[in-house]
Amino acid sequence: MKITQYRNKLIGKLISAFMVAFIFIGCEYETIEFDLPDENEPVSFAADILPIFNNGNNCTACHTAGSTSPDLTTDRAYNSIVPALINTDEPEMSRIYEFPHPSSTTHGFKKYTQAQAALVLNWIKQGAENN
Ligand code: HEC
Repeated sequence: MKITQYRNKLIGKLISAFMVAFIFIGCEYETIEFDLPDENEPVSFAADILPIFNNGNNCTACHTAGSTSPDLTTDRAYNSIVPALINTDEPEMSRIYEFPHPSSTTHGFKKYTQAQAALVLNWIKQGAENN
């Protein structure tokens, strides 16, 4: 086999390897998307949303009474958020959703994970109830 033929074969193999790698990366990405909470899955404010704010003082490290508003501590979080930080007409525009969103550029202190942001959005879409 000539050296150029050999080289072309090698390049072909490399291209195939890259294509296979990209297919796998593609699948992994879809899996992450798939793991986000389902929009129709009922969201509970007490069981699903409050822990995002309070567990490990995730948000309440700063957002407490007399400190930075909104007050996100267990007893006061709901009244701090609803209705002030909710936009029922355009849930994606709700401040409690978009301000700490992973892709937000405004709230550098702490952001939601993708899954937490999805939960908050679903909760708003389902009526932002104190459930
Ligand atoms: C290290 C401190 C800190 C942490 C932790 C933090 N925040 Fe904040 N947050 C602030 C500060 C300071 C402001 C106000 C300054 C500003 O507008 O950027 C603010 C503003 C906000 C606002 C806008 C309030 C309004 O009335 O416009 C929201 C909503 C918010 N934070 C939600 C959260 C959530 C949800 C978490 C937890 C995922 C969180 N924050 C964690 C410091 C923090």
